[in-house]
Amino acid sequence: MGDARAILVTGGAGYIGSFVVRACVRSGMPAVVLDDASTGHLEAVRRAGSDVAAVRGHVGDQALVRALVTEHRITACVHLAGSSRVGESTGNPLKYFQNNVAEGVGLLEALLGAGVRQFVFSSSAAVYGPPAQVPIVEDAALRPISPYGDTKMVLERVLERLHEAHGLRYAALRYFNAAGADPESGLGEDHDPETHLIPLAVDAAMGQRPPLTVFGDDYPTPDGTCIRDYVDVRDVATAHVAALAALEGGPSLGAINLGTGRGHSVMEVLRAVTAGVGRPVPHSVGPRRAGDPPVLVASGERARTVLGWAPRYALADSVAAAAAWRRAWPRGYPAHTGAAES
Ligand SMILES: NC(=O)c1ccc[n+]([C@@H]2O[C@H](COP(=O)([O-])OP(=O)(O)OC[C@H]3O[C@@H](n4cnc5c(N)ncnc54)[C@H](O)[C@@H]3O)[C@@H](O)[C@H]2O)c1
Repeated sequence: MGDARAILVTGGAGYIGSFVVRACVRSGMPAVVLDDASTGHLEAVRRAGSDVAAVRGHVGDQALVRALVTEHRITACVHLAGSSRVGESTGNPLKYFQNNVAEGVGLLEALLGAGVRQFVFSSSAAVYGPPAQVPIVEDAALRPISPYGDTKMVLERVLERLHEAHGLRYAALRYFNAAGADPESGLGEDHDPETHLIPLAVDAAMGQRPPLTVFGDDYPTPDGTCIRDYVDVRDVATAHVAALAALEGGPSLGAINLGTGRGHSVMEVLRAVTAGVGRPVPHSVGPRRAGDPPVLVASGERARTVLGWAPRYALADSVAAAAAWRRAWPRGYPAHTGAAES
């Protein structure tokens, strides 16, 4: 390993995590994955980098984290592991406070104890709640409306306090809607159950799922459907590399939005999927879903100035990649093997 610093990537077997692992490896940063495989796929780690160590375990297992830091000479952590279904969090808030807050605090305690003081956190646009203004800037009021959003806000606050007390340097990257895939390296989105619009629409167009339900078409938007900011997962990944580079020897960065600054309505997404798949997306319109703000679009200003990062891919690129991945891997990743590697 020489003097190379290694990055601990928690949740590296997940959708976004596998792209972060791939981006780290491609930038010459060795990565070590810690993932309990609860929603991720160890196969995704293998595809992200053939010699990446993947350890199956919980991020709150402090003895394990300390051992990994020593063994792999970890100097920074990207913390993507967590539970992320907004609807589920409303019905089962304890699961979310346990997995996202308690486990996250345990991870931070182990890292600080082992001398690791650089941390990149997967936060979310869900910290904002319904925005007073769009595009949303980072110092907008935080008013999450789901337990999931609460957990992200609380861990951000923990990071701020650890920065003040212990000199932790961190970036809390507030992702908007991550989308897309990379068919060439075999990485894509495979959640069970899937709750994200683009993979659901791709599968519906391919006849692999029943018709899609659009949640409301009477919002105050041009076509009546909700508008969201879809940011390509390949771009999300490179933002992590930029954040790690900026934290190495630089100041703490705080909260940074990761979005494109452009919104697309649900109907626009369905048209993009129709074009990307080459078949229409069967759908019907149902009632609104509780808690969906009409428009969520990021201001990308801070990411540009602080990270020198701007997205390269547009919605059509993300949709084309998601469709190509699904064509190549119609059943997604193989079933869990349960095997851990290191
Ligand atoms: N997908 C999005 O659009 C989006 C948007 C905003 C924020 N985020 C955040 O980004 C992160 C990654 O999202 P994703 O879509 O890749 O989700 P994902 O479910 O695909 O990945 C999460 C990974 O974390 C692992 N994990 C969960 N709890 C763990 C624990 N206690 N210990 C070890 N491993 C654990 C899972 O097995 C999985 O591999 C999450 O924290 C999520 O809240 C995602």
